[in-house]
Amino acid sequence: MNKHKIAVFASGVGSNFEAIADACASGIIPAELSLLVCDRPEAPAVKKAEIRGIKVFAFSPKDYASKAEFEAEIVKLMDSLEVELVCLAGYMRIVGDTLLQSYHGRIINIHPSLLPAFKGARAVERAVEYGVKVYGITVHYVDSDLDGGKIIAQRAFSYEGADPEEVHSIGQLIEHELYVEVIKTLLSGKHLSEDA
Ligand code: GRF
Repeated sequence: MNKHKIAVFASGVGSNFEAIADACASGIIPAELSLLVCDRPEAPAVKKAEIRGIKVFAFSPKDYASKAEFEAEIVKLMDSLEVELVCLAGYMRIVGDTLLQSYHGRIINIHPSLLPAFKGARAVERAVEYGVKVYGITVHYVDSDLDGGKIIAQRAFSYEGADPEEVHSIGQLIEHELYVEVIKTLLSGKHLSEDA
């Protein structure tokens, strides 16, 4: 039986990428991580992929005339690799129509808040500033509404301090576990689409 093929999009550290790659390598996720897409060629995530021998498409958006142009290239590459599921993990770009139309219902994202609270950037910092006592992580489908797609899974945790770094560290441990669990579940189902 052919293995599922997945892609991860990241812009930074790539700890979620790493967790997903390790879970694929050990068979916890029954898939091959076929591609890392990164919009910052110097990002640590790129090194993490290279060390593991995972194909990388690293690009600088400024080298393209438009988002549609670089997304078309990504779609072409993912089609050729037969990618079934796209996992955004710290990809700091709004996904455009070209990608959304080609991979509708097959793009998911992980966000460090209990959505719909604290959509967008600096979610943890804003939650700390707000003084929330319960934080969380959300995995959701990606659509044209920023951090507004259908929720797949959430995990909450209590924290009474005021240190965003600490919240990040607690949250990231949860992210790695939750994202692997969700990807595994989605791939084991008959349908990947949010419409299913
Ligand atoms: C994660 O906290 C994720 O929730 C957010 O971006 C961060 C990426 O971290 N979308 P990493 O690059 O996977 O370490």
